[in-house]
Amino acid sequence: MNKPVPEISPQRCASFRNALLAWHRHHHRPLPWKGEKNPYLVWLSEIILQQTRVEQGLPYFERFKERFPTVQDLARATEDEVLKLWEGLGYYSRARHLHHSAKYIVNELKGVFPDNYDAIRNLKGVGDYTAAAIASFAFDLPHAVVDGNVYRVLSRCFADGTPIDTTAGKKRFAALANRLIHPGRPADFNQAMMDLGAGVCTPAAPNCAACPLAPVCEARKKNMATELPVKSKKLKRRTRHFAYLMIRHKSGFYIRQRTGNDIWKNLYELPSIELKKPLKKVQELRYEHPWLSSDAVQGTRVSARLRHELTHQRIEAIFCEVEVNDDFCAPEEECWQWITPNDLPDFAFPKLILRYLQQKALSLERC
Ligand code: ADE
Repeated sequence: MNKPVPEISPQRCASFRNALLAWHRHHHRPLPWKGEKNPYLVWLSEIILQQTRVEQGLPYFERFKERFPTVQDLARATEDEVLKLWEGLGYYSRARHLHHSAKYIVNELKGVFPDNYDAIRNLKGVGDYTAAAIASFAFDLPHAVVDGNVYRVLSRCFADGTPIDTTAGKKRFAALANRLIHPGRPADFNQAMMDLGAGVCTPAAPNCAACPLAPVCEARKKNMATELPVKSKKLKRRTRHFAYLMIRHKSGFYIRQRTGNDIWKNLYELPSIELKKPLKKVQELRYEHPWLSSDAVQGTRVSARLRHELTHQRIEAIFCEVEVNDDFCAPEEECWQWITPNDLPDFAFPKLILRYLQQKALSLERC
């Protein structure tokens, strides 16, 4: 049985809201999307900020706003162009869904952004959190945002150890946030909760001395702030090993477009093989790539291992540089594309490949 959401007295609600909003008036960090009322720009900023730190998302927001000032501009772009602008930000399905929804808004909704929670929530790539953010920021509707910051503030303020990664926890904290939200100032309330969680009620070392909610915070009274929030499962990351091939021919090299339905769908990469264990010698790849034994291959070199952390995976990659001569024929079924370094701006790569290509840039330019 789920625990009932605690009753909050009107006085406690009022103290919470007033203290939070008074603090926010003097402590808010100016950011380009704050106070924005254009739903397209609010949506754009919130999709960029999903699973992304503000510092990292900021330049992407500025670039997208500049390149696609309206939903019509975004809808007209090609997916390759959107992915290229998103390159390096990760979680690329966000970019694909953003583009898909822009086309939907233009083609099906006559270019008018939906103006109520359910219709906003219906857009591809928009979950409960983002729908509440857009509804409150752009349309002043009283929907509370509940993200990692808000879970932290609420679980501490109410000393509530319901695990936040369970359905019961999600419902409980969402109900709590929706009771607390200031009905007349939902945008300010939501932004203040996010900012408090991001800057004061931080995960490891909360600055309780600077917190406007300290007088009403149960976790502080019980000296248990850093034990909250509770999660029921520990995140497990599996390690995967990949060997990427940098097949260099004349002044260029080969890339291919990914097709599988995964996080990097439709991005470009170097031809790669997944391995059961870390690669020791390039020779080990000859079974998968018999052409590596051909006379067309003039030399091979292996890079140091590069590591890349994703939410559920740790990728260990090795890059094998293979120099081939004019006798080399790319295997037809592989759909490889030969490009030169000058073509790189036209293709979006996962960050891992980008890091390698950037390290290589100088020597490539010298080819
Ligand atoms: N993260 C997600 N949305 C945000 C916002 N509006 N302000 C700051 N951080 C955010």
